[in-house]
Amino acid sequence: MRTYPTVDDASGRTIGAAEIAAVTRVLETGRLWRVGGTEADALEREFAELIGSGYAVASGSGSSAVHLAVAAVDPEPGDEFVVPPLTDFGSVLGVLSNNAVPVFAEVDPLTGCLTPQSVEACLTDRTRAVIVVHLFGGPADVEGIKAVCAPRGVVVIEDCAQAYLTVPPGGSTYAGTRGLIGCFSLQQSKHITAGEGGLTVTDDPELARRMRLFADKGWPRDTGQRDHLMLGLNYRMSEVAAAIGRVQLTKLPDVVRRRTEVAAALSERLRDLPGLVLPRPEGHSYFLYPLVLDVETTGFTNREYVAQLAGTGAPVGAGYLQRPVYRTTVLTEKRTYGTSGYPLHAPPAATEPDYASVRCEVTEDLIARRLVIALINEGFGDADVDALGDALTDAYKHAADQVA
Ligand SMILES: Cc1ncc(COP(=O)(O)O)c(C=O)c1O
Repeated sequence: MRTYPTVDDASGRTIGAAEIAAVTRVLETGRLWRVGGTEADALEREFAELIGSGYAVASGSGSSAVHLAVAAVDPEPGDEFVVPPLTDFGSVLGVLSNNAVPVFAEVDPLTGCLTPQSVEACLTDRTRAVIVVHLFGGPADVEGIKAVCAPRGVVVIEDCAQAYLTVPPGGSTYAGTRGLIGCFSLQQSKHITAGEGGLTVTDDPELARRMRLFADKGWPRDTGQRDHLMLGLNYRMSEVAAAIGRVQLTKLPDVVRRRTEVAAALSERLRDLPGLVLPRPEGHSYFLYPLVLDVETTGFTNREYVAQLAGTGAPVGAGYLQRPVYRTTVLTEKRTYGTSGYPLHAPPAATEPDYASVRCEVTEDLIARRLVIALINEGFGDADVDALGDALTDAYKHAADQVA
């Protein structure tokens, strides 16, 4: 069985001598936390500059990066956040943790991202924000979503955990700078990694200050006061993680460039297979390489396709998720705080959410029948691309033969 570079180890990562030197530099100072240190401060400055945002605040994970954004917006308990059902649970964790209510909007059948129309259908007078996920590194129509939100005073948060240097339509600036707040992850599998880590960006100094307070127990260290100005958590990034993140940041443009080359070469090989819808390259940064099956044309589903790859080692999966986020146990059984189910009741919610009866048919069809994900990364050489292209082509032919 062939092996391919993987983000689970050095084969698909860019960790090397510079990261080792950075960690050693921090260890030698003996100061491993960020308070009074220099690395996390520098990472925040350097990331804000690279992305083109006024401020960046570091935290412990991508989930905490989203939680910082929610806390900065400061919803009342029961306020609604419109979210997609096809995403990592980290997109909604901060919503629930801040006692707001996730409302699931349908996704686009090709990109898996929220659309202006699907968001608009979910807006109510309790909606505070929309969390737009640029899924797999592909750009969501964040400008269109902003246009339907702005007249209602609803703010847009971009979840860019999978979308470093993604460029959404309607401009040349990066995802994460289009909405009020953008959230990024440095977890193991992301474009760049410190093992774990998060970065939240905004142009608004007041929001940046709230995020900074929230990540540090509400403690206003800039004033010298030992006070706690708001409910916050300890989401501080360590100096060690920040030092690794700073080196990784310098490699980000090359990482995205290589992933884009790999994706383009794969698309070239797969383009003549009927019913295989390839990812649109515009603005994409390829956290993963998603294919959508037009099952009416192929005659076989994503699981039938992926079954034909068994034993080849090709890193390809069907569906991305096993179930939409609204069908996860925490939501269907309201497992939040003790037996209260808080805040998933009315009040504080306007109406009691019943996640067990939510249906987003496009999302469910993507998961069950259409979506195929190839786990590409910057470690792929040309021989890996060739082998993966051949494996996907052969599997397509075998799956087609089975249904013929
Ligand atoms: C879209 C999205 N949002 C949020 C997260 C949460 O990031 P983390 O795993 O770093 O908490 C992830 C990562 O898995 C993600 O893919």
